[in-house]
Amino acid sequence: MAAILIDGKRIANRLTEQVAVGVADAARAGWMPGLAVVLVGDDPASHVYVRSKGKQTVAAGMRSFVHHLPSDASEVDLLNTVDRLNRDPAVDGILVQLPLPRHIDGGKILATIDPSKDVDGFHAVNAGRLATGDKSGLVPCTPLGCIHLIKSVRQDLSGAHAVVLGRSNIVGKPVAQLLLRENCTITVAHSHSRNVDSICRGADVLIAAVGQPEVVRGSWIRPGAIVVDVGINRIADKGASRLAGDVAFAEAREIASAITPVPGGVGPMTIAYLLHNTLRAAQLRRVSRGAHTSLS
Ligand code: GUN
Repeated sequence: MAAILIDGKRIANRLTEQVAVGVADAARAGWMPGLAVVLVGDDPASHVYVRSKGKQTVAAGMRSFVHHLPSDASEVDLLNTVDRLNRDPAVDGILVQLPLPRHIDGGKILATIDPSKDVDGFHAVNAGRLATGDKSGLVPCTPLGCIHLIKSVRQDLSGAHAVVLGRSNIVGKPVAQLLLRENCTITVAHSHSRNVDSICRGADVLIAAVGQPEVVRGSWIRPGAIVVDVGINRIADKGASRLAGDVAFAEAREIASAITPVPGGVGPMTIAYLLHNTLRAAQLRRVSRGAHTSLS
């Protein structure tokens, strides 16, 4: 029997509507969350993502600030931009779109973002909070989206074996932490792992986040597994181009019990959680400012 298709678009729309309700509450109380997105250079895919983030931020009722720096902007230019946004009270969330041009040290930039405005959850303070089970931090958007999609088909993940393919700071490591929080047993496989196909066959939950089109074959999937495909790869196909995930979808859907499509699976969830994180950052920052006010 073919797998259930997990409809990321529908689930993301529902989450975005909930965020919009929170934003409307804020507006009634006289304030508005703001998200600043910084884009350096001319990467076409990044431009598409940034435009979409800006549009959806405004649609949810929040303020959107987009800062576009030229591809030859210096590291100091970008550090100065982040510094200004850190100090701007209208900005609750800051996202520096990755990848950055090679002459800029991405780690240095991410370390400069105020952790209370780090809606990507990439700052070491937020990564550390996630790793230590401290729920007060901001958590990366794509991993939050993955867990939400998995839980739409299986609420209790306790004891499940989750295999994560990929160990990036953006997806692999944080999604492994979140699955651990759900009491899963975790295996993280990566480019140096041996027998990856057989590791995958042990997975009740399989998250593919390697950025290689259709590497995960149907034969790698345990019958009845839940498969989450994080990959968005553009490939040539019959003289045209199309988007492909990291999973060979047509094969996998015959074996899995539930699977996310590409597009329309994880992608929409990432933006929905960006809006969610921006509202949350704004709420937390107001609470902490209120606490300071009452102390002074
Ligand atoms: N580039 C691809 N995915 C992401 C993401 O989640 N955050 C940022 N900042 N850049 C990205």
